[in-house]
Amino acid sequence: MTRSSAPPPRLWDAPEITGWRRLPLHAVSRRDQGDRIGLDGSWRFQLLPGPESELADRWSRVDVPGCWTVQDFDDVHGVGDLPHYTNVPMPWPEPPPHLPAVNPTGVYEREVDVPAGWLGRRIVMHVGAAESVLIADVNGEPVGAGKDAHLASEFDVSGAVRAGESNTVRLTVVKWSDASYVEDQDHWWHGGITRSVFLYATDPLYLADVRVTAGLEAGGTGRLRVDADVRHTRGVLPEGWHVSGSLEGREEPLVTEPTGERRAAGWQGVATLTAAVPDVRAWSAETPELYALTVRLHRPDGTVADEARCRTGFRTVEVRGRDLLINGERVFIRGVNRHDFHPLTGRIVSEDDMRADLVTMKRFGFNAVRTSHYPNDPALLDLADELGLYVVDEADIESHGHHDEIAHEPGYRPAFVERVARMVTRDKNHPSVIIWSLGNESGYGPNHDAAAGWLRRYDRTRPLQYEGAIHAGWSQTWTATDIVCPMYSAVDAIVEHATSGGQTKPLILCEYSHAMGNSNGSLADYWTAFESAPGLQGGFIWEFWDHGILQRLSDGRPAGPGTVGGYAAGVAALGYRWAYGGDFGDTPNDGAFCADGLVLPDRTPKPGMDEHRELAAPVRLRLPDSGAGEVLVRNHQHFRDLSWLTGEWRLEAPGSAVVLAPADLPPLGPGESTAVLVPPDLLARMPETGEVWLRLSVRTADDEAWAPRGTELCAPQVRLRRETLGLLTRAGAREGDVAPVRVDDQGFVVHPRLAAPPVLSLWRAPTDNDRLGGPADRWAEQGLATATRSLTDIKRDGERVVVRAEYATAAGVVVHEQALTALAGGVLLVEETAVVPEGLNDLPRVGTVFTAAEGLDQAEWFGHGPGETYPDRYAGGPVGRYGAPVRELFTPYVRPQESGGRHGVRWFSLHGAGVGLTVHLDEPRQVSLTHFSAADLAAAEHHDELAARPCVTVHLDAAHRGVGTASCGPDTLPAYRVGPGTHRWSWTLSAM
Ligand code: GAL
Ligand code: MG
Repeated sequence: MTRSSAPPPRLWDAPEITGWRRLPLHAVSRRDQGDRIGLDGSWRFQLLPGPESELADRWSRVDVPGCWTVQDFDDVHGVGDLPHYTNVPMPWPEPPPHLPAVNPTGVYEREVDVPAGWLGRRIVMHVGAAESVLIADVNGEPVGAGKDAHLASEFDVSGAVRAGESNTVRLTVVKWSDASYVEDQDHWWHGGITRSVFLYATDPLYLADVRVTAGLEAGGTGRLRVDADVRHTRGVLPEGWHVSGSLEGREEPLVTEPTGERRAAGWQGVATLTAAVPDVRAWSAETPELYALTVRLHRPDGTVADEARCRTGFRTVEVRGRDLLINGERVFIRGVNRHDFHPLTGRIVSEDDMRADLVTMKRFGFNAVRTSHYPNDPALLDLADELGLYVVDEADIESHGHHDEIAHEPGYRPAFVERVARMVTRDKNHPSVIIWSLGNESGYGPNHDAAAGWLRRYDRTRPLQYEGAIHAGWSQTWTATDIVCPMYSAVDAIVEHATSGGQTKPLILCEYSHAMGNSNGSLADYWTAFESAPGLQGGFIWEFWDHGILQRLSDGRPAGPGTVGGYAAGVAALGYRWAYGGDFGDTPNDGAFCADGLVLPDRTPKPGMDEHRELAAPVRLRLPDSGAGEVLVRNHQHFRDLSWLTGEWRLEAPGSAVVLAPADLPPLGPGESTAVLVPPDLLARMPETGEVWLRLSVRTADDEAWAPRGTELCAPQVRLRRETLGLLTRAGAREGDVAPVRVDDQGFVVHPRLAAPPVLSLWRAPTDNDRLGGPADRWAEQGLATATRSLTDIKRDGERVVVRAEYATAAGVVVHEQALTALAGGVLLVEETAVVPEGLNDLPRVGTVFTAAEGLDQAEWFGHGPGETYPDRYAGGPVGRYGAPVRELFTPYVRPQESGGRHGVRWFSLHGAGVGLTVHLDEPRQVSLTHFSAADLAAAEHHDELAARPCVTVHLDAAHRGVGTASCGPDTLPAYRVGPGTHRWSWTLSAM
């Protein structure tokens, strides 16, 4: 057989070609084992305007791995390729097979000394990932080519490498290709080599693949099966080769003879090792128990030719009816979607970065990650195995711009099958991988079924899913999905599915609760549904990171991987901002839609994370129907008891100091609950009147792999006494002078602690949700931001002054009345009414806004906290007494918007330099204290455009619209909207 010595011409424009002379992927990790030469580091580099352009004499240098779009190098050819963000559309309008005239092509070159000892060995070049087409040469000889931007390409370079000499390796990376059309995911477009490159050498007799199946049998016995796929570079295997193995904790070695079962020809060796492991420690996300496994391939004389090491976990996964079972248990999937992202490198993520991502997920209650929308670095799966996260492993297939067409296109059939098969062959041994995904947003066609067919035959131990397939209708044959995995369905839609009587598969949302900006409203409503409707089992929040790239303001370029101080310095360091679509001059673009994660670009958790943490609480509290002095404690885990946790009680009331007491957690197995006594001395310190809250702070008792001892994991809370005190009692007007109410001739309150008087507020700086799927445009048409006040009249009646005003909007007039009463001790009582006309049927807020005197910038409050909370997102903020500088109450969402609110506030105070003001509210209300006005926030596109005002703007709202998730998904639920009619609220202002 002769093999061509050059890759197919113009292979970047040939979807039917997925690779040339590329080795099959396998599960034998050569990353950090055996003989290898790392090739990461500085390479010669030129960026050409196209794959057929001529090289210049002048080279620059870049680091590998790296995205050239964020690296600083000498751009000899003036290609000027920067990050480009699109969601659905391709960067160009023409349909496939069109490719743009300028097609940035990186040529990477370096020398590598190969030791003389590698002579006669099998030498393989491993390129971890390159986007989107990779062509490899060694010493001027083409050795292979490949597509599939998030999986490795391996080439046998034994014939091209000169052992004992210096060799030149060249890697050519073509950015745009036929493959781009199936890599049209919603994130930044980059270019480059994005994972590690190395050479490794094996014996001519080698392990081509190892497959580990580690299941569980009733009674707790682990069933291990190892299938080793053995090859020889010369084809025929020598007589007498054999395979042995060892498993951690097992004395006897695992031994077998070659079975040769599959082929008699002697070139395809298969050896199978099996073992029963009694009383095995089962793997789950809660109990990530791993066993080290070594597989050795022996030459006929018994010496070791090759070795593969991995860690395996014994567990089962199955779909039974409409339940997904792990080790026989129906576990809730508390998932999040994760992209490979980094604000400095684009998408080069170190192992430390991956660990930091997963550790953050674990600390905030996540137990699952979907590798949206492509296979991740194998190191991430090792970490998921080790830390305990279920993984939906997704193939790199998304043809969103040409949604349904490519799935029917015969030319792309090989790409669909290859992308799924290569992922599965690589990742099959990871216990963390519980579900395979055929990709994302690519319509549904026979190309999917082709991939699913291969997969169902190859791996019978895991279910597979594909969102596109569920639209084919409930009655079809479910070739391409075992799970109903919709995205962004509303709560009532999934409940309706689960209660329809027609549900046949588990429903786990592949995406929900879009975390863009100030978001994740109604997460608690989703979890109420998941936990109460059989058939609903959780989902994956969209998404983990905000993809803001750190950008230098001086020249508009990406700050780049070498930025001193690391990305943690972020925008705080002068001269940077978080860039989103359009900020690099990229058109078309989808703006800030890439900043839609649960953590800011520097990985600071956003408030949605606190919400999730509490909803995932492993320990729950409830008040018993009877039994004073007791609370019900429930272990809400699937597999663990409570011995790894400790607790602390915390008693809180609006007018009293916090009381703490250690808590002994009861010995509860998974799912069990019991009544426990609240320490009597704690109860003895309850105030005599008014509401009282009891919180249980639950922490790790020892170091966990993902949390040091003492890390708080949840803080469930119950209200021991509901009764509340009247506003005036709480305001505590003391004996003393009654200073007359002062209003100016326009009816504006004049008060020494106010820089601007309290007026009606009907508007907030639109959130991303308000802008992109909610009513912000309507609010603009209605003129809510600029509703003009005109005074109707001022009436005095003794100590009481009533000011009436009208606020004109384009959709009607809001009539506002403010009744002001001076009370003893200098307390001002403000009673307000707003009559909102029918035309204003969906408002962001109805409430009061004023500005505090300069210098009052330290806040204290009693209400939900300490983090930001809103009417449809406050589970993560237990009620209590909190304090912080006002500037710390603000959440710096990548695109400025309504931010920093606190829900259910009973009172708050602002102070500074020995003076202050306190406001008591008639009932728990939404409050925000900020150095920015709503108009400031709405006008800014980035934070560098914002200047903090010296005086604090105070909003206290009679009603405030929930934040919802409308930027992608359902709008704020009707229960959290603000409608027309009469709104009444009152508050007191006292000066200190
Ligand atoms: C989904 C898609 C994600 C992302 C998200 C919106 O439709 O699968 O990749 O685009 O919407 O942020
Ligand atoms: Mg998409």
